Amino acid sequence: MQIFGVDIGGSGIKGAPVDLDKGDLAQERCKVLTPHPATPEGVADGVRQVVEHFGWTGPVGLTFPGVVTGGAMVRTAANVDKSWIGTDARTLFSERLGGLPVTVVNDADAAGVAEMRFGAGRGRRGTVILLTFGTGIGSAVFVDGVLVPNTELGHLELGGHEAEKRASSKAKDDGELTWEHWARRVQKYLAHVEMLFSPELFIVGGGVSRKAQKFLPFIEGVEAPIVPAQLQNNAGIVGAAMRAAEQEGLQGHPGELT
Ligand code: BGC
Repeated sequence: MQIFGVDIGGSGIKGAPVDLDKGDLAQERCKVLTPHPATPEGVADGVRQVVEHFGWTGPVGLTFPGVVTGGAMVRTAANVDKSWIGTDARTLFSERLGGLPVTVVNDADAAGVAEMRFGAGRGRRGTVILLTFGTGIGSAVFVDGVLVPNTELGHLELGGHEAEKRASSKAKDDGELTWEHWARRVQKYLAHVEMLFSPELFIVGGGVSRKAQKFLPFIEGVEAPIVPAQLQNNAGIVGAAMRAAEQEGLQGHPGELT
């Protein structure tokens, strides 16, 4: 079965039909630049271009980099235009897509459900935490394969600072930090999250997961194993499509272990 997935990021809006049996893109993805400022109207236009590129007419799942409840309502917008807060994103996107059924999900939660089903978390029980390091820090917490949505662990306070301001990959770039220096910050952050949740496994996602060997060797003193995400760039697209399939009653709960 195929469902369309769209990942809305700070630099690009990327989407493709997803093969839900394989957990992979069914066609090469299409990307348009995210408008700046990334207002609801501007982003919705970008989403329409991506979906129309494929002539898609079925259900669509989308990620959003903030808290999203009920597959629709945007509650926070830490790194995107504040006018998103209080937007019914399902209605906005569905109207712009000519009435297609739409589900919206937090970006890290989407990446997490895809990793749990098809990637680094496959078959893992207990508490598993995926953290994405990008412009912000996103989190997806699973207990026996079931997602606890919208956990927002990137906004934990650490040493008087919001964690994502210190340990995101944007913080590394902005501060021109070496991998080792940045890894020490990530280590403190992981140790703090471990103190709170005692997970069995950490999965590190986001763009930096491709460069895991550059910083994971510097991380010590965290008991849980730390592994890089496997789906990398496509995790958000795949996870969004999985959530949309679930919403439409086309597939079981994406967090369920099979
Ligand atoms: C947002 C999260 C999001 C993360 C990664 C944070 O600033 O609050 O909702 O998952 O960035 O995009």
